[in-house]
Amino acid sequence: MAEKKMWGGRFRQATAALVEEYTQSVSFDRALYAQDIAGSKAHARMLAKQGVLTADEAARIVEGLDMVLAEIEGGTFVWRRELEDVHMNIESRLTELVGDVGKKLHTGRSRNDQVALDFRLFVSDRIRAWRGLARDLVGVLAERAGEHATTLLPGCTHMQPAQPVSLGHHLLAYAWMLRRDAERLADCDRRARVCPLGAAALAGTTYPLDPAFVAEQLDMYGTFRNSMDAVSDRDFVLESLFCGATIMAHLSRLCEEIIIWANPAFGFVRLPDAYATGSSIMPQKKNPDVAEIMRGKTGRVYGALTAMLTTVKGLPMTYNRDMQEDKEPFLDCDRTVSASLEIMAGMLRELGFNEGRMRAALRAGFLNATELADYLVGKGIPFREAHHLTGAAVALAEERNVTLEELPLADLQSICDRIGDDVYPVLDPAAAVARREMPGGTGPASVAAQLAELADWLED
Ligand code: ARG
Repeated sequence: MAEKKMWGGRFRQATAALVEEYTQSVSFDRALYAQDIAGSKAHARMLAKQGVLTADEAARIVEGLDMVLAEIEGGTFVWRRELEDVHMNIESRLTELVGDVGKKLHTGRSRNDQVALDFRLFVSDRIRAWRGLARDLVGVLAERAGEHATTLLPGCTHMQPAQPVSLGHHLLAYAWMLRRDAERLADCDRRARVCPLGAAALAGTTYPLDPAFVAEQLDMYGTFRNSMDAVSDRDFVLESLFCGATIMAHLSRLCEEIIIWANPAFGFVRLPDAYATGSSIMPQKKNPDVAEIMRGKTGRVYGALTAMLTTVKGLPMTYNRDMQEDKEPFLDCDRTVSASLEIMAGMLRELGFNEGRMRAALRAGFLNATELADYLVGKGIPFREAHHLTGAAVALAEERNVTLEELPLADLQSICDRIGDDVYPVLDPAAAVARREMPGGTGPASVAAQLAELADWLED
């Protein structure tokens, strides 16, 4: 009974059934099969190059691993929980297929450096995919922003009307966030895609291994420098989860705005039917469930990051089995981040913008008050005083239930005699936006410059 375990040499009793289920990881780490097989092929070739295996032995192992890969991808591979994890399932099947030579594959290797390699490759592959999806989303945001460089809406602070901005500028704010997310992922990848193979259990090995050759075959940026660090740290998982959490924070904010904008009280957007749902009781309803679910799923990604930070806290050197808990949070984060990025891009592509409602909303909230204050500064009044005078004008307009530009000149002059007829064009929201052409401002030329810079980035 005991000898069915690959590590069972010293064991006399079989593992308790509950323990076997509790400790197994194959139910989830099978997701790493492709990276495990690629890593093993690279290891076998390296062993042959270094004279540890013969060329023929390595060739038979590589061939066998390809057969295993075909079985897994063809759906005929039988995953066995009693073999614990993806690594031992694959190695065991390899030996069944190619015979005793399969038992030589694990020479100079431990599951500790093997799992570190597999997971580094897996995380790297996935965050590269996220990066592509984040870029696609930047592309969609830029496209929609280009269509709306001169569509105006109230810009808010504290969720209160502040100053008019263009919808293009508003959308590009998200494009820049997502661009930084993509850059963060590229940076994270440079540290994740580093080869730990050769660290063995913790101390390195006596075989003349060539980790750089393994790294090169797997298209990695370099090799480990310290074998204990190589098998024991999971900071690449933490970093990638942080990147995922930040992406979700950005998406969740955009979801929140879409949800608010879809409320008929705002009516700024029309949800595409394909990205909305109805109510089972209220026939009139069209709910922004997609955005709500995305906002809600942000919590589980933050949870994954928190879980992983907690798992690694207080682990002594070097490998500890606690680290097996790194897989499920990352896999869950990956499902959430990948789907959310793709769905947000699809939803935004089809989102209808109601320019009329946005323009109408510019009437409420005295969004042009800053313009009046700046106008007074132009007439030689110190800003603090101009601010105060403008406040008085706002109070007067509010009392009469009109906008600032609807106040007759005589009333404005009763507040400050330096106000002339030339104030009215200044109060126009389009003029307010057009005046903000400084770099990064909401003016149309600035938005065009942002678009050009993003287009360059999207190209390379
Ligand atoms: N399933 C394990 C993990 O994910 C593989 C490494 C096991 N190593 C060990 N010495 N038991 O971490």
